[in-house]
Amino acid sequence: MIKVLFVCLGNICRSPLAEAIFKKKLEIEQLAHKISCDSAGTANYHVGENPDPRTVEIAEKHGIPVNHKGQQFKKHHSEEFDYLFAMDGSNYKNMVSEIGNDPDKLILMRNFDPFGKGEDVPDPWYGGINGFENVYQILDRSLDKFLDHLKEKHDL
Ligand code: 4NP
Repeated sequence: MIKVLFVCLGNICRSPLAEAIFKKKLEIEQLAHKISCDSAGTANYHVGENPDPRTVEIAEKHGIPVNHKGQQFKKHHSEEFDYLFAMDGSNYKNMVSEIGNDPDKLILMRNFDPFGKGEDVPDPWYGGINGFENVYQILDRSLDKFLDHLKEKHDL
């Protein structure tokens, strides 16, 4: 099993949305028995909580179910997962503080974005619903590219 972890700050907006979108893609491509994913936040503010209602609203608008409880990113995740995705540069730095430098595993989400390579997935927490739609579009196209990459690399 190839294991992928998406990480943001609070684990209620960006990373649970990435997890939900990617799970749907894995189902559609019939790869859920070969690739799995989860999400976490570098902060502990929302541990045990459901995703933000705006995350759920945007996912539902695109026909994607969301099912996650907030958890904090910890060192053990770096042993359990093959790919660790940071949503932004600040998440990346916080992850390095927790697990040390691991450039093979630790990747910025938008390294797979054909539009805006290496930029941050913007934190939508303080904005309105349009910010969540923007995050959805960024994640959807980045995750398409990542899945293409996995299929090629692992011969799936
Ligand atoms: P996320 O967004 O990192 O995409 O889940 C945030 C959620 C909560 C907070 C910040 C960002 N917060 O400060 O509580």
